Amino acid sequence: MEPCDPGQLGQTLLTGLLTLQKHTTTNTIVYRQRDPFWCTRVVTGCTDGVGKAYAFELAKRKMNLVLISRTEEKLQLLAREIESKHAVKTAVITADFSKGQAIAREIELKLKGMQIGILVNNVGKQYTYPMYVGEVPEQELWDIININVGATTLMTRIVLPQMLLRKKGAVVNVSSSSELQPLPLMTVYAATKAYIRSFSEALRVEYQSEGITVQHLSPFFINTKMNAFSHRLQENSLLVPDAPTYAENAIDTLGRVSHSTGYWAHGLQYFFTMIPPVLVRTYVGAVMNHVFRKDYMHNVKPQMSFL
Ligand SMILES: NC(=O)c1ccc[n+]([C@@H]2O[C@H](COP(=O)([O-])OP(=O)(O)OC[C@H]3O[C@@H](n4cnc5c(N)ncnc54)[C@H](OP(=O)(O)O)[C@@H]3O)[C@@H](O)[C@H]2O)c1
Repeated sequence: MEPCDPGQLGQTLLTGLLTLQKHTTTNTIVYRQRDPFWCTRVVTGCTDGVGKAYAFELAKRKMNLVLISRTEEKLQLLAREIESKHAVKTAVITADFSKGQAIAREIELKLKGMQIGILVNNVGKQYTYPMYVGEVPEQELWDIININVGATTLMTRIVLPQMLLRKKGAVVNVSSSSELQPLPLMTVYAATKAYIRSFSEALRVEYQSEGITVQHLSPFFINTKMNAFSHRLQENSLLVPDAPTYAENAIDTLGRVSHSTGYWAHGLQYFFTMIPPVLVRTYVGAVMNHVFRKDYMHNVKPQMSFL
């Protein structure tokens, strides 16, 4: 049997304890006084799901934001909503990360002169539904690689020099529990998230002595449009929280644990998931994705063709 990493297990339990502690001690002012990162926060993929919830949660804690996503109207709407609700400053950058390196140059220019305290590399793309690799349109595969791997890598490279100068900053990389083992029918998505884990862990060793915090988040399922392929993942439950619940929990772990699922119930799920060996987990993942594929074929696809 594959041994359970005691360090990660400890961090998982700590995440749960921090969540409990939050309900008794944390309020905005206390958090700000302890906040070691200050300055502006950048959130990618922020007009929906986890990114949007992260943006709101950071604004609630009185942090100014740079919002980066692909849909201009959604960005403008979000910026207005955040500013009016939370009295913080926002800036928006419209960027389609599927366009690759050229977009990174544009973002770098627009971020020039801003002091970035935290970068939340949240943007991510998943298959439309669980598919065999040969079924996924070539463009979709290439977009997933550009968005999940390229954006995180290049965004990090953009903010590192100024964080190094100040000897202060945090990079939060939103990965996925799909990186815990290969995941058939979501093969490429899971592989990109395995990259994010490796990238985060090596980056941390490179820069931790320079005052830069690198956090890797591995959530299990969250109720967002990313999982629209299955009705089972579109209902809130203990194991499938909505995005605001997830973000509120995950933000509390920053600066405290370097790897986390970000949400206490996912921490328990992580513990039980890691007990069987990789091969067993891979097969269980395949079975699970066949169920989701059927959900899509029977429920979602017929509705889409009807429209
Ligand atoms: N949901 C889950 O169950 C789950 C589980 C584990 C990990 N995660 C990870 O969590 C992160 C957020 O996922 P989510 O569920 O919140 O996703 P989501 O609901 O699909 O939202 C994705 C966000 O990214 C933006 N976006 C998509 N493609 C983009 C592109 N090419 N360029 C710029 N922005 C783009 C979207 O913009 P629009 O508003 O214009 O669509 C949206 O704001 C991802 O990294 C994902 O892999 C999610």
